[in-house]
Amino acid sequence: MFTKIATRSFSSSPSAAYKVTVLGAGGGIGQPLSLLLKLNHKVTDLALYDLRGAPGVGADVSHIPTPSTVKGYNPENIGEALTGADVVVIPAGVPRKPGMTRDDLFNTNASIVRDLAKACADHCPDAAVCVIANPVNSTVPIVAEVFKSKGVYNPKKLFGVTTLDVLRASRFVSEVAGTNPVNEKVTVVGGHSGITIVPLLSQTNHKNLDTDKRDALIHRIQFGGDEVVQAKDGAGSATLSMAQAGARFAGSVLNGLAGEKDVIEPSFVDSPLFKDEGIDFFSSKVTLGVEGVKTIHGLGELSDHEEELVKLAKETLIKNIQKGVEFVKQNP
Ligand code: 2OP
Repeated sequence: MFTKIATRSFSSSPSAAYKVTVLGAGGGIGQPLSLLLKLNHKVTDLALYDLRGAPGVGADVSHIPTPSTVKGYNPENIGEALTGADVVVIPAGVPRKPGMTRDDLFNTNASIVRDLAKACADHCPDAAVCVIANPVNSTVPIVAEVFKSKGVYNPKKLFGVTTLDVLRASRFVSEVAGTNPVNEKVTVVGGHSGITIVPLLSQTNHKNLDTDKRDALIHRIQFGGDEVVQAKDGAGSATLSMAQAGARFAGSVLNGLAGEKDVIEPSFVDSPLFKDEGIDFFSSKVTLGVEGVKTIHGLGELSDHEEELVKLAKETLIKNIQKGVEFVKQNP
């Protein structure tokens, strides 16, 4: 399905021991994410890295009696933090302040992600890399370009984490419908910012919502992150719900690597779906397997309204992706 950029051999035998590395473990997302990953019994080695503070977070969560050993790392030891990693999760970077879009973070976060991607390419080129750092629509292409430049790009092992959109969709739809959010499964496609976030409500039990209710719900799912940014009033964006999203996604990647069947999550990946339109990355349902991406699913049947939303999403996505690609070209 993919053009192979580099020749590497990929092991397809599930292992029982998994090293997970968090890049940005001392931050607002990184700390609760580290806690949640410590609670995952599949993780045997948890490596927590940040510019500062990671050894403290590591010592703290290391007392929790689950199978993983935990170690915190400072910049001089990033190589050790990454060597042998099966999964790397990247929440590093700065968050939004009120009034900012995720794209406004580009100038700061692009170089942070580029440099972390270089370290991953050097020390753990076979790891599954899960990018949380915003703007995800651009930072994922940045990681891809860095890996390509080092000859180690494997499109099956690079993921933009869009799981928070999926969590919000479940929660918000349940509030409108008066249902249990645990039972609400909404596929969200496109990207991870504003109008690029497209929840496919027509594929749920809620396809007959009044147009006003439907539009308000979709808007809330698309701009749910802003509610948190405003409520935090300058102190950042979603950290706790994003940590839950990141831990769930990383857990699913691990389940796939372990050979479990039917592990499916939407994710922003190098996707064939709209490549003929110049859109190299797109989020849709992905079956996760022992080599990372196993199957990228199509969008399924869409309502006319969703067709229109996807069209609008693509117009923004193509620019967001290009911005990431250009950044690495200009600032290798
Ligand atoms: C959000 O969706 C921080 O991008 C994150 O809230």
